[in-house]
Amino acid sequence: MLALPSTNSLSPLPLLSTRQNPNPRQASFRAQSPLSPSRISASCHSHLQTERGLEFDTGDTFFRHESATGRDLAVLAASLYKKCTGRLRVLDAMCGCGVRSLRYLAEADADFVVANDANDDYRSLIVGNMSSVQEKEGRWVVESNDANRLMTECYLRRDFFDLIDVDSFGSDSTFLRSAFSCLKLGGLLYLTSTDGYSSGGHRPHHSLAAYGAYVRPMPYSNEIGLRMLIGGAVREASVLGYHVTPLFSYYSYHGPVFRVMLQVNRGKLPDNRYYEFISYCSLCGDSLSYSWDKLSKMRCSCSDGKGSSSLVVSGPLWVGPLHCASYITDMLRMAEQQEWIGNGTGSDLQKLLLLMLDESDLRLPVGYIKLDEVASRAKINSPPLRIMMGALQKEGYAVSRSHIASNAFKTNSSMATCIRIAKGLQQQ
Ligand SMILES: C[S@@+](CC[C@H](N)C(=O)[O-])C[C@H]1O[C@@H](n2cnc3c(N)ncnc32)[C@H](O)[C@@H]1O
Ligand SMILES: [Zn+2]
Repeated sequence: MLALPSTNSLSPLPLLSTRQNPNPRQASFRAQSPLSPSRISASCHSHLQTERGLEFDTGDTFFRHESATGRDLAVLAASLYKKCTGRLRVLDAMCGCGVRSLRYLAEADADFVVANDANDDYRSLIVGNMSSVQEKEGRWVVESNDANRLMTECYLRRDFFDLIDVDSFGSDSTFLRSAFSCLKLGGLLYLTSTDGYSSGGHRPHHSLAAYGAYVRPMPYSNEIGLRMLIGGAVREASVLGYHVTPLFSYYSYHGPVFRVMLQVNRGKLPDNRYYEFISYCSLCGDSLSYSWDKLSKMRCSCSDGKGSSSLVVSGPLWVGPLHCASYITDMLRMAEQQEWIGNGTGSDLQKLLLLMLDESDLRLPVGYIKLDEVASRAKINSPPLRIMMGALQKEGYAVSRSHIASNAFKTNSSMATCIRIAKGLQQQ
């Protein structure tokens, strides 16, 4: 049922090494699941939920109501893809109760969805939830397999997908290679990480192993989490001769959860553009990014051109835009078509997309500046965010809010300028 040949795939690809992992289903399922296998029981309790008007049962599966926005964003991207290409085959690799699969079918008009979860006990619950979509025969199938094994089998069958959703716990870097292998050219890969310790710089050797990035504590660690996830995908894609473009990146403090929607295409990034190192100077508060050929020149201008012990360096990470502005505009239009926004109430989804649009300004560098840091360096009380942003804009700097931190802003001005402006505002 899964075998639909495609000539438009991201192949040829090296296969996963089965020698390293003789029983991938068991091994990676254990590694990913918060429950030990002996504690995983059948979904015997019914917990009915409604999301965007669709009813489904979450049973005893892992389900977070707070992830609804992450699902909304995915459905908008899927709907745009269907509208643009006229087709949509989805692999929901870690579907839990199957809510995303259901939403891809019902709201994004997917032609075909594979709803997979390694926990076999969820199968009947997922089937029950998917059964509410009855229009056409054979539009969906439920699998109970390890995601890596399933995606590798799809690749071997030349069964390729337009959108692959990997909603894992922890770091999902182990699924990158197999996900790329069964994605169509131009297809979408929706990745999740819940690894807040790594993005916070508390496990640099773990982030190095998982994403190839040595991450140290930085004041905008949650943005670093998104950049680490994209950077990991950039690295894995380039091994295979592909490159990824982030369409949107979304951080949510519930968890925390880092999500990125990537479009995957053939061809490497020219000169590893946007795959660089980031420095933060604890002395002056400035951040800079360094390309690979400038690594030996890492120093902050506040230390007179000398190497400085005040520099904290992380990388390599994605240092390019977190979102594609024109894509976010299309998502806003699609959300309006779905009647999720635009009724004059200014929904949270609308506010989020508008923030993402502001953040997409290509003049804005990596990171954000917390108002508290400006206030503490200037030894004054924090000025109101809007007034501070207005003053920076008046001086010709690019500035936006950050969807990640509410009391922070992104700007291409230096910290010294922010301190001067904040002090000036205090005296008015
Ligand atoms: C975060 S939950 C999924 C939530 C769901 N996508 C949603 O939006 O409600 C992660 C799921 O992955 C499943 N899982 C864990 N390891 C897996 C693996 N290696 N392969 C496939 N599924 C796995 C778990 O059983 C769990 O249901
Ligand atoms: Zn400095």
